[in-house]
Amino acid sequence: MKSVNFLLAFVLLALASSLASAYDPSPLQDFCVAVNDTNTAIFVNGKICKDPTLATPDDFTFSGLNIPTDTNNFLRFNSNLVTVDQFPGLNTLGVAIARVDYAPGGVNPPHIHPRGTELLLVVQGTIFAGFVDANNTLFSKILYPGDLIVFPLAMNHFQVNIGKTDGLAFASFNSQNPGVITLANTLFGTNPPIDPYALARALQLDVNVVKELQAKFRSSN
Ligand code: GLV
Ligand code: MN
Repeated sequence: MKSVNFLLAFVLLALASSLASAYDPSPLQDFCVAVNDTNTAIFVNGKICKDPTLATPDDFTFSGLNIPTDTNNFLRFNSNLVTVDQFPGLNTLGVAIARVDYAPGGVNPPHIHPRGTELLLVVQGTIFAGFVDANNTLFSKILYPGDLIVFPLAMNHFQVNIGKTDGLAFASFNSQNPGVITLANTLFGTNPPIDPYALARALQLDVNVVKELQAKFRSSN
């Protein structure tokens, strides 16, 4: 009986460790450049892959993250997220990157990345950043150039430029397509709109306030 229990414990432990390592899959080949022309495609793994013998150095480089994004908007913030869609050489490699610009007072509003953990490096400015875990605990800190913060997979996070100068950061992701769900938009900017009564009850708001927010976010989407 003892040995059966021991065997069971061992199997459960092995299962747990295999589940933990399954979280971060390795690429299935050295690379797999995305291509739209199915005539030159040979492998399928997410996106269709270009025949590796036809790959060129240009497939593995991307230019333009030196160019500031336009922060002349309500949030005083903008970003350029480079995923497999903009950079086909990322296909199957599990990485993406973003340039993030903040004018003084700029806000990157609360959002989640459903498929990627984010590592944010502040290059310029004074950035207040944080995320909220599944117990609703807020982890936040003021960041300066050279500081990093990690936003774990699918956690609600945000940044505010609390300095007097422009802010700049670069974000890397462990997904070729991390996705972005901005919380305000996913509540109020949906198409079709979520029942205002349901939102009003859920958020303890007057239904007219919900309708006002829906009008605002639906027109800005
Ligand atoms: C920052 O959180 C970003 O997703 O660009
Ligand atoms: Mn983010």
